[in-house]
Amino acid sequence: MMIPHGVRMNRLSTARLAAALTLACSVAACNPVQSPRGPIPLVMPPPLTTLGAHRLVPTPVSVTPDDGAPFVLTATTAIVVPVGGGEASRVGGMLAALLRPASGFVLPVAAGDGAPPRGAIVVRLGGPASLGPEGYELTVSADSVRIVAVEPAGLFHGVQTFRQLLPAGIEGQHHAVRMASAWTVPPGRIVDRPRFAWRGAMLDVARHFFTVYEVKQYIDLLAMYKMNTLHLHLSDDQGWRIQIDSWPKLTTVGGITEVGGGPGGFYTKDEYAELVRFAGQRFITIVPEIDMPGHTHAAIASYPELGCSKPTPATQTGTAGSYTGTEVGWSTLCPDKDVTYRFVDDVVREISAMTPGAYFHVGGDEVQGLTAEQYASFVERTQEIVYKYGKTMVGWEEVGKARLRPTSIAQQWKSDSALLALRQGAKLIASPAPKAYLDMKYTPTTELGLDWAGLVELRTAYDWDPVTYLPGVAEQSVIGVEAPLWTETVQNITAAQYMTVPRLPAIAEVGWSPASERSWDGFRARIAAHAPRWRLLGINFYPSPQVDW
Ligand code: ACM
Repeated sequence: MMIPHGVRMNRLSTARLAAALTLACSVAACNPVQSPRGPIPLVMPPPLTTLGAHRLVPTPVSVTPDDGAPFVLTATTAIVVPVGGGEASRVGGMLAALLRPASGFVLPVAAGDGAPPRGAIVVRLGGPASLGPEGYELTVSADSVRIVAVEPAGLFHGVQTFRQLLPAGIEGQHHAVRMASAWTVPPGRIVDRPRFAWRGAMLDVARHFFTVYEVKQYIDLLAMYKMNTLHLHLSDDQGWRIQIDSWPKLTTVGGITEVGGGPGGFYTKDEYAELVRFAGQRFITIVPEIDMPGHTHAAIASYPELGCSKPTPATQTGTAGSYTGTEVGWSTLCPDKDVTYRFVDDVVREISAMTPGAYFHVGGDEVQGLTAEQYASFVERTQEIVYKYGKTMVGWEEVGKARLRPTSIAQQWKSDSALLALRQGAKLIASPAPKAYLDMKYTPTTELGLDWAGLVELRTAYDWDPVTYLPGVAEQSVIGVEAPLWTETVQNITAAQYMTVPRLPAIAEVGWSPASERSWDGFRARIAAHAPRWRLLGINFYPSPQVDW
């Protein structure tokens, strides 16, 4: 029997899904640099002549242009890092790696604590404590560039700012084509720090599986826009995507399907460790999500004892018990069995052991098959398991219906139970679906995506505030913002980029920039200058008609 879903849960019926998947690779979404109006020419914006005309996204806290000659990156430029500089040296090395392909310069990374040579780019820890753990100061003169931060993450963000100040051609991947007449950056000073500590994106690798290589491309996009959190939705009805040694059938049975019947896939522990390492190098924390007690058909198909033997949507259940449709809300772990909590304990233990980040996301959304008491009791027991393994619990906002520890975090999406969590002292991650869900269509004719939360054109994704979105919420109660990409209709990284760019940079600015510095007109003008960068990086994007590209 098919369980009817509520308005908020109306993801996608299988008939509509089939139609969407047929279209999925027809036009713009799967053809990089195409738009529904035809190809966009690659036009390089002229180099900046004053820092005041910067096109930075996210826009910084303060920009003070100077008069005088610009800094010029040349064949003799060196990147100077402290002697024994550890992470600062590594960030200096990443800067060199960013600038070398297009410039063709050697850009040696040299250790030195004395006065830097003329023309150097200095990357070192220092600066006032007020910069916080992710802020930085960037000072540009004709003689030198200095990037200073209290913590290495701030240096990394400063590097991203410097990158965006150089002519767009710096994103070129090889030197064969000369991409700029000169690599100049106008003089001045930028002092910057983020508004929110949590600036994230969620990638649903369960509805459709994304390879390690694809996830790395997503991580690089986040890094470019100073996001610091990648939430991986690792399990759902359609697939289980992470190796768990104590429950091997989760991947051998639960991992081999996906929406539409494709082959699925999963990350081995080594692959997950590689993602954690790659993200960590970019100061991005991976937050693993195992969605429970609902959205668990892949686990139950692997280990039927985890379920309560209730009927499933039989018409969409394949011979191996797999589910390739997109209805939601019908599956649930059986809340009253000991085996359920042995399973939760093992899964949380194994994933926590390979996750250096502080968080474990337990899902908790869209559960229709349990009573309110059963749901609350499940969340509360699971919460204790998460804390037992040293992690802070994050859950979708429905977890506010259970008794939360005050350190737990609720992720607002439909905004009808977030306040329950807030009243218990929990902090919020703001991901309101009508603003931040990157799987919503841009317009009625967007080939991919859903529309149950509305259409989310670029301005809609940009023009909102995470604190004032819900009445009665204080700035301190919002830990940050996150842009989820659910992948019922999104089959690969090219399609993911189409749904993500330029909305993800918009959400990145919502999370980073002070409200007083943000305006749609400003963002609209600045983001236009990023299209040539995406083109050179091979990043697909939606050329929103709201922007003069
Ligand atoms: C959700 O979109 N079900 C969190």
